[in-house]
Amino acid sequence: MDAHLAFTRFTGRRLHLGVCGSIAAYKAPDFVRMWRDAGMDVGVTLTDAARRFIAPLTFAALGASPVFTTMFAAGHPGDGASPHSADDDVFGHLMPGQSAHAFVIAPASASTLARLAHGLADDMLSAQALAYPGPLVIAPAMNPKMWSNPATQDNLDVLRRRGHVVVEPGCGRTACMEEGQGRLADPRDIYLHALRAASPQDMQGRRVLVTLGPTREQWDGVRYWTNPSSGVMGASVAVALWLRGADVHAVCGPGTPWLPAAITRHDVTSARQMFEAADGLWDSMDAGVFTAAVADFSPAPRGPEKFKKADAQDGFSVDFTPNPDILATLGQRKRGGQKVVGFAAETSGLAQSMARKLAAKNADMIVGNLVGGADAGFGSATNRVTVLAAGRDAEEWPVLPKPDVAWRIVDWLVRL
Ligand code: C5P
Repeated sequence: MDAHLAFTRFTGRRLHLGVCGSIAAYKAPDFVRMWRDAGMDVGVTLTDAARRFIAPLTFAALGASPVFTTMFAAGHPGDGASPHSADDDVFGHLMPGQSAHAFVIAPASASTLARLAHGLADDMLSAQALAYPGPLVIAPAMNPKMWSNPATQDNLDVLRRRGHVVVEPGCGRTACMEEGQGRLADPRDIYLHALRAASPQDMQGRRVLVTLGPTREQWDGVRYWTNPSSGVMGASVAVALWLRGADVHAVCGPGTPWLPAAITRHDVTSARQMFEAADGLWDSMDAGVFTAAVADFSPAPRGPEKFKKADAQDGFSVDFTPNPDILATLGQRKRGGQKVVGFAAETSGLAQSMARKLAAKNADMIVGNLVGGADAGFGSATNRVTVLAAGRDAEEWPVLPKPDVAWRIVDWLVRL
């Protein structure tokens, strides 16, 4: 699991996974592991065709419970169900509707899409889906011609109109060696859509700008000035905001992590480009979270040629000029209702620096951390931060995975 996606705050949430007959069914056990790692309880239903590809026992062994395979257990002796199977439960078809916070069908076959679109309930999965009151997360996978067939597309239109979330398949070569759209979506997208379905939507309707990663200030044709920021903290914030319903615009420095397609990503390289992208977006945003490790200075550029060693036998000096402070500029310009969260990474004097930045940058909240320790800061999967907001006492949080720090930052942002 990518460090910025490893959320663990889903304890007590239950997810139900439906698996259909597609070669992509071999990827489904991985989903169970990811959601279990996030803290969720996971139940599974396999269609008859899915069981041709993968066994119920695989899911049970990974901790999925219950695992359903058939609607009517009696009369199906030796049907391959595991001893942990829930097939004897008379009301198993109602169970996800009564207890699950999210219902995902991945991979979803063309025939299951048709069943869902037409409200059929002639197998366990379609009956459970029909009895589920919330929106389904549907991740289809099939041959490109089956996908593009108007019958399938019409069924998808019906499902979208009803509010179900369709995680579109990707393009490329499918298992049947055809080129086109039909491959199961990136598993990370499916994993995250499920988390989103089980998350509080307390940021719904709010547009949030996030800056993240390092910037790179070019000096000559081959050299640049930068810092070791991985962008993991900012990517965690962007994803946590999206999980909780926000419309997220991420302005990303070089080398920053993968983000789900539902986050609008603006890739930039230099501090000046990051400033221009953020500045252009700011007026239409409700909040900004400025996690980027922006280079404070740029070297005066030497042009596109490589500077030769032979030209500087006695050493040389480089002039630096200050870059715009994105957070301070946009913080000063914020209108009523806009909220600004800044970061402070220091090697000492953290509390004073946080208080100073809160005022100087006109921020509503500052998240500070001491860099240098192994469990916090640049490149680490965890962070130990102190948070300060106007009118609230500073709070020190324990060492937490960065996604969980991000989740708590959103908890504060909601209440700012
Ligand atoms: O002043 P300092 O660089 O320590 O402040 C850090 C905070 O300011 C971070 O939130 C960072 O993203 C933001 N910042 C910025 N533009 C800069 C420098 C810092 O947005 N040029």
